[in-house]
Amino acid sequence: MKSSNFVMAAWRGCGLTFGRPQPASPVFCMMRRVLLSTQPVPAARLPYRVKVSAGKRYAWCACGHSKKQPFCDGAHKTAAPTISPLRFTPDKDRTLMLCACKQTKNAPHCDGSHFKVMWQDLVKSVKGVFK
Ligand code: FES
Repeated sequence: MKSSNFVMAAWRGCGLTFGRPQPASPVFCMMRRVLLSTQPVPAARLPYRVKVSAGKRYAWCACGHSKKQPFCDGAHKTAAPTISPLRFTPDKDRTLMLCACKQTKNAPHCDGSHFKVMWQDLVKSVKGVFK
């Protein structure tokens, strides 16, 4: 096996090499965790308006990688292992504005931080025009 294939196999799964399961190298697993996303990514620039039911448990996606926004689908396990979803149980039926930009200081609720994200996007695009 070429050394690059070995590295990639170890990187991928901390798992399969030579076609059979190998014990995961703690060093590779640690490197993988460090190099994978430790910061949330914005799923959208505006909050999600969601009706929630009293007593039902919800898991708000905190990493931004879920395909079922604004709720968790388990994508953080591979894309951002250091970020966990925020679980909450509403005390009554209501409509909530759940953060989609993942920068809120009042998770899972929107606190207006998405304006900062939109501003940063705007600054980046303007900088691109004048390069
Ligand atoms: S959508 Fe994140 S703070 Fe509003």
